[in-house]
Amino acid sequence: MKKLILLSLSLVVLSCKTAQKSIAPTDFKIAFGSCNVQSEDQSYWNLIGSEEPDVFIWGGDNIYADTEDMAAMEEMYEQQKTNPYYQKFIYNIDNQVYGTWDDHDYGVNDGGEDWTFKDESQQLFLDFFDVKDFERRRQKGVYHSVDFEVASHQIKLIILDTRYFRSALQKASDPTKRFEARKNSESTILGAEQWKWLANELKESQADYNLIVSSIQVLSHEHGFETWGNFPLEEQKLEDLLVKYQVKNPLILSGDRHLSEFSQKEIEGLASPLTDFTSSGLTHAYTDFSGEDNAYRVGEVIPKTSYALIEFDFEKKELVLKMKSTKNNKLLQKLKLQMN
Ligand SMILES: [Fe+2]
Repeated sequence: MKKLILLSLSLVVLSCKTAQKSIAPTDFKIAFGSCNVQSEDQSYWNLIGSEEPDVFIWGGDNIYADTEDMAAMEEMYEQQKTNPYYQKFIYNIDNQVYGTWDDHDYGVNDGGEDWTFKDESQQLFLDFFDVKDFERRRQKGVYHSVDFEVASHQIKLIILDTRYFRSALQKASDPTKRFEARKNSESTILGAEQWKWLANELKESQADYNLIVSSIQVLSHEHGFETWGNFPLEEQKLEDLLVKYQVKNPLILSGDRHLSEFSQKEIEGLASPLTDFTSSGLTHAYTDFSGEDNAYRVGEVIPKTSYALIEFDFEKKELVLKMKSTKNNKLLQKLKLQMN
């Protein structure tokens, strides 16, 4: 379930493959994206590749499968994995590709714990990421963590599974919304086992930066689609753990929405506000977006196809979060975070 990667080593390998790539030892760059229709134009991988990220993270809906037919799902993964643009991209970043799933690659729209084919689907997901680790093959759900070490800085990637164990959603009484908050203590997003694992990961983390990947948004609550806000007790539990274990520099990465936005929330006991960077989607966007409330939003909603960049500057103790267009690399919005 846990992987330690010494980036200084893999960067040496990388530099052999792409001669022009030169990375200052104090820099580190993560690219992140979600919501990718495998049959649509994949040439945007060239644009992400031109950023020379060290790592790419899939935030879910990595393919749109939506099927009970596991042979068909396998073919869809194959289509994505063998796409020449994607192939070239992952080769150039030395296969430093991690991620979680969301509902469409899980297999069913808004799917949760009752999805019949979740175990079969999990194995296909793990195949896509070339996961050989027996523990990850055997465990229920796709959650795992990866530790990076870059020039003596520790970065922890905590990748959650918000599908495998998620309780039924509460249909909204408001006809303009799909779902509303369910406040009973039995309802869960992560499930008991994953919570136990997550608490331990946070407790034991020695990382200077802790990135938490959740396919669905954590902080933006009011839109009536899927969000941690539909399970407020679960969200509280997550915030409580961050405070309890004084997790250093946490940052949430989310997707799902086919729009991109930054959300920030002050949490008592945390040194700096908690940021949720939502980046979605890679091939399609919420183009008829006409506005929605989000008490924690910082800046604008970008309802355009985009990918995310997270640029670490260890000397300045700064993270720069960028939303960039999958059409032309244009910077759509950015946010600087001063880290502790
Ligand atoms: Fe999606």
